[in-house]
Amino acid sequence: MKKFAQRLREHLTQIDPQEIPTGYARIGNCAIIKPRNILSSEKQVGDAIRKILPWAKAVILQKNTLDITRRPLGKVISGKLDLPVIHKELRTRFVLNPLTITFSPGNHGERERLLEEVKTGTIVDMFACIGNLSLPLSTRNNTRAIAIEISPYTFEHLKASAKINKTRQFYPILGDSRIVAPQNKADIILMGFFQWNKTHLRAAKRVLKNTGRIYLHYISPYEKDLKNTKVERILEQVKQIGLTVRDYTTRIVKPYSRGHHHDVIVLDVKK
Ligand SMILES: C[S@@+](CC[C@H](N)C(=O)[O-])C[C@H]1O[C@@H](n2cnc3c(N)ncnc32)[C@H](O)[C@@H]1O
Repeated sequence: MKKFAQRLREHLTQIDPQEIPTGYARIGNCAIIKPRNILSSEKQVGDAIRKILPWAKAVILQKNTLDITRRPLGKVISGKLDLPVIHKELRTRFVLNPLTITFSPGNHGERERLLEEVKTGTIVDMFACIGNLSLPLSTRNNTRAIAIEISPYTFEHLKASAKINKTRQFYPILGDSRIVAPQNKADIILMGFFQWNKTHLRAAKRVLKNTGRIYLHYISPYEKDLKNTKVERILEQVKQIGLTVRDYTTRIVKPYSRGHHHDVIVLDVKK
């Protein structure tokens, strides 16, 4: 089978090859592209993508995400967006609007790893979005999850996602997780949001039982020394809020920006 980019080039012979996207992500029946260069003929590119990918009812051109709610900046360049979009992954269904809600296809590997590592216990997802990280744990594993989302708009989609999966042990809560999260409840805390600070870490400490694991996401430089410094700084921050780190591991979630990865540190901690 010919590669996507090659097939696209054959449909777009009039367009500068630099402008032709080399890949796409699938969210439900939408093809999402994030081209490096500005597209001078967006509609033509979008229409060609829909010809190559017959399942794609809409092609979305996406730019970067905004503010703390991480809403993506995107627009439909071809086809029609039928809302809500239902995205299926890991035998879990997510209800969303890809134009306004973050669901990173690049985090798929991390979602899979969580399924392997978190089989039981109570999870508090402090930055739930539509349950990107925590919902599969409830649909697939024997866990109990409390999923907290600050944006009322995203929260409606979180509730819809929980409902469509008929989850029993998944409890969406609207609000700032620093305020509304239940105390001394979690075996596992998910912190899938880069803009955390010490106030979020202190909240995580309150939410945790006496011992537990925190999955803390961050942006990490590629370069080894800088990477180590970043990890040391995180460990220092965790220590400063009064948590003892008994053990930890780090791993790459996905490439992020030039010179940076999206990483996660898994902290085995004690209060
Ligand atoms: C980048 S999304 C990440 C979603 C998911 N955790 C993941 O890793 O794929 C972050 C989400 O956290 C929400 N958020 C930000 N600050 C929050 C807070 N203090 N309490 C609860 N939710 C928050 C945002 O609205 C957004 O939906």
